Amino acid sequence: MKEIIRTLTEAFGPSGYEDQVREVIADMIKDHVDEISTDVMGNLIAVKRGTAPEGKRIMFSAHADEIGIIVTHIDEKGFLRFSNVGGLAPETLIGNRVRFSNGTIGVIYKEKGDLKDLNLDKLYVDIGAESQEEAEAKVKVGEFGIIHREFTDLGNRLVAKSMDDRIGCAILVEAIKQLQDTPNTLYFVFSTQEEVGLRGARTSAYTINPDLGIALDVTLTGDVPEGPRMEVSLGKGAAIKVKDSSMITNPKVKAFLTKLAEDNNIPHQFEVLERGGTDAGAIHLTRDGILAGTISIPCRYVHTASEMVDIRDVEACVDLVKAVATSDLKDLM
Ligand code: CO
Ligand code: ZN
Repeated sequence: MKEIIRTLTEAFGPSGYEDQVREVIADMIKDHVDEISTDVMGNLIAVKRGTAPEGKRIMFSAHADEIGIIVTHIDEKGFLRFSNVGGLAPETLIGNRVRFSNGTIGVIYKEKGDLKDLNLDKLYVDIGAESQEEAEAKVKVGEFGIIHREFTDLGNRLVAKSMDDRIGCAILVEAIKQLQDTPNTLYFVFSTQEEVGLRGARTSAYTINPDLGIALDVTLTGDVPEGPRMEVSLGKGAAIKVKDSSMITNPKVKAFLTKLAEDNNIPHQFEVLERGGTDAGAIHLTRDGILAGTISIPCRYVHTASEMVDIRDVEACVDLVKAVATSDLKDLM
């Protein structure tokens, strides 16, 4: 599974430009599902048809996009200025590198000035160009870039850029590979533009109109020096979301996921996230309301070049996805 995670986290896919991620995932799962399609928003939707006539429709969603930058200006010396695509903290960018779709690499640095006044306007990208013309031959205004960083295996702990949310994608890929026949029809959505407002999940949930929607996404942890006061820790299992800024999990869904985890001896913890949202926030407000929940992957250093997860939590999430997929959902309907 670590190879799947490496491949997915090293792929290029800022919001709106998820093509490469879509191709890689389609290739990984094509022999294990009944149908694969891509919709107008770019969502990759894989369907595994259920065997039971009374089976339900379950949508799983993990977002394929990652945070990044968009070039807004190129100056006469060939330095690029940029705006954010999704949530970027300026202090995490200094000295880091960006990569554009054609492979061009750039270094992010800052103008002089007080660090406490730092914002994105004070940062620039140096792609090694010596003039505006040379820079424009490599990168144009309006181009999207991602943080450039390789995957690193630290044993139980794994570090990469875009664990948010390629780790969710990897969990769905692995679950698809492990699942045998299921009573329910399963819709696996690798959604687009989550980082700019849960956009892909919104339209795919409308099309699929599932009986239950489950998002897979990272959440923050409180287990670091002087960290936020938050109960979630790396290595303590799949995190069942109770609340974030996009959704209060339906109590029935929270109880359903908790019981599945208990009955299957899957390590789990509860997550209360004070700020942030997931695809489930969009799914549960679709049509006349859809039962939805989120299985969160504990992750340190979210929205930096070095997002860290624990492989044991990842495996617990795979097991919980499989338990949901094969459940009769009778406690929910
Ligand atoms: Co994110
Ligand atoms: Zn995410």
